[in-house]
Parts: sequence; structure tokens; C-alpha cells
Amino acid sequence: MEKNMYLKDNNSGMLTSAAVNWFPGHMTKANRKIESSLKLVDAVCEVIDARVPQSSRNPELDRIIQHKPRIIVLNKCDMADPKKTAQWISYYKSRGITAIAVDCKSGKGINNFAPTVKSVFADKIKQWESKGMIGRTIRVMVVGIPNVGKSSFINKLTKSTRAKAEDRPGVTRGNQWFTVDKTLDILDTPGVLWPKFEDQNVGMMLAYTGAVKDDVVDIELLAMNLLVLLREKYPEPLKARYKLDKIDIDSLEAYELLELIGRKRGMLISGGEIDTLRAASTVLDEFRATTLGKITLEDVNNG
Ligand code: G4P
Repeated sequence: MEKNMYLKDNNSGMLTSAAVNWFPGHMTKANRKIESSLKLVDAVCEVIDARVPQSSRNPELDRIIQHKPRIIVLNKCDMADPKKTAQWISYYKSRGITAIAVDCKSGKGINNFAPTVKSVFADKIKQWESKGMIGRTIRVMVVGIPNVGKSSFINKLTKSTRAKAEDRPGVTRGNQWFTVDKTLDILDTPGVLWPKFEDQNVGMMLAYTGAVKDDVVDIELLAMNLLVLLREKYPEPLKARYKLDKIDIDSLEAYELLELIGRKRGMLISGGEIDTLRAASTVLDEFRATTLGKITLEDVNNG
């Protein structure tokens, strides 16, 4: 993601969007490109990050694609909480949207994609066949915000390395078609989709996962916020990882919690002070490496 997308506000210490001046123009352009390509496809596949299913979505997409059938791909499910992934899939189902979980690192779940698309189109295929269109190709556009693994997904799906990562804002490419099988083609998004960047919580969620680069955010602040979230949602793995079992972590301020982790790990700087920056990096790295376990930060009920 672009460097200047989120910056630390020196007064509040929160992440803020620094891109408000130039961003809407690029966003509109990218959205328009997607809108104009919609007529080329039968359905839209939205790739999202299963660890942050809410924040890794583009808020405009519902409006843009309107009534086109949609398939949601919860990618990176190897790092997400399987129980919560299942809950998200049920949630989408209850809203009439088919969702599948995939892991583009290992390729797990990828083979379900084509059959899933075809099941979504079962009635349509019958209609086509009744009109003599036997074996008509289904065309699906793949969209996603940067870093959700859209390129990896397309590569795995098409077993090629042609889909190249492209996360420069505002840069659009020509349409790229890929063949999955005889009756399924996919179109790589000719534009960049954006998260709900004006929402600071979304910025935080994407920073936890590493989708927003660490060099533009306050690492300690990020780690403290993550610790608070983990304490609420995954207290046991948190306590186990940092040997905090005998401590009433709920009574600690976020900074105290970070310090405690630093102390437990022997992260000291001269004068015996705790190296909270190092502790913060460790917490973030370990979350991203799933050392703390498979974790999903957003729940269906509170999104
Ligand atoms: P994008 O097109 O949506 O921007 O994403 P891209 O495919 O470039 O993937 C972004 C990062 O996420 C890559 O890691 C990629 O390997 C990783 N990734 C994609 N899908 C999965 C998945 O299902 N599970 C896991 N664990 N990781 C996934 P990177 O560190 O940027 O690059 P690299 O490690 O591939 O070199």
C-alpha cells in the first residue's frame, strides 16, 4: 500500500488518512474503470482477508456492482480463526452471498472456486442451455483492496505467474483475462480498490495485518491497540504466548501490558529501561506470523 496513505497524527497519536486531497480522484477513476468493465462479466469475485473480513472490503463495491452475482473469497484462511471464518461464511450465506475460504499460500480451497461459481450459476446455465448456449463461458471479475492476495489468488487459480502484484494507487492497467477452465474465465480488476480509508479503525486493522506498511505508523501505538484487541478477543493465547497467566491483564493499561511483555522477554535498553519499540515489533511480527495462533480480529456481530 502507498506510503502516504496513513500517517500518525502527532497530536492524537492516531493513524489518520493523509491522502484525502488526492485520493478521491483516483478512487473515482478506479471505481469507474470497474463499473465500465462490469458489462463484460457475469459475476464479481471479491477477495478479502479472512483475518479482517470487514476492513479488507471496499465500501463502495456493493453500490458499484449492484445486482451482479457475487462470490466472496476469504483468503489467508491459513492465518484466520477457522471457527470465525465459518461464521463469516454463514453470515454471507444468510445475506444471499456465496463465500468460500481459501489459502493461496498452500492452494487449499482453490479447487472449490470453479464449482462454487458454477453452482451460483446453476439456474442461469440451465437458461442458457435452453436457449442453445451449451457450454457458455462464465466470466468473473476479481477485485480486492491491495494486499488481500488477489494476485496470489489469480496465480493459483490459473496456475500461472502472469498476474503481477500492483498496488500503486491510481494506476490502472488494461483488462487481463485468464482462463480457469473450458467454461470459466476471470478478469483481473483493471483498477485499484480501496478500503474505507476515512475510518481510523479500518486503518488500524489493515496495519495490524501488515497491509499498511509499518514505516508510516507508530509501531508502539499499533502494538498497544492490537494488544487491547487480543486481550478482549483472544486472552488465552495472549497470556500463554507471553507468560502472563498469573497476571490480571485486564487491570493493566495498554502501555503497561506492552512493557510487561518487553520485560518478560528481557528487552532492555541502557539504564534498565524496557525497549518497548522492540516489544511492539515482536508483538506485531508474532501476530502476523500466527505465532499467537490463527486469529480473526473482526467478528460477524460487531464487524
Ligand atoms: P494483492 O495482489 O492483493 O496485492 O496481494 P498479493 O497476492 O501480492 O499478496 C500479498 C501478500 O500476501 C504476499 O506476501 C502473499 O504471499 C501473501 N498471501 C497471499 N495469499 C495468502 C494466503 O492465503 N496465506 C498467506 N499466509 N499469505 C498469503 P508478501 O510477503 O507481500 O510477499 P511474498 O511472501 O509472497 O514474497
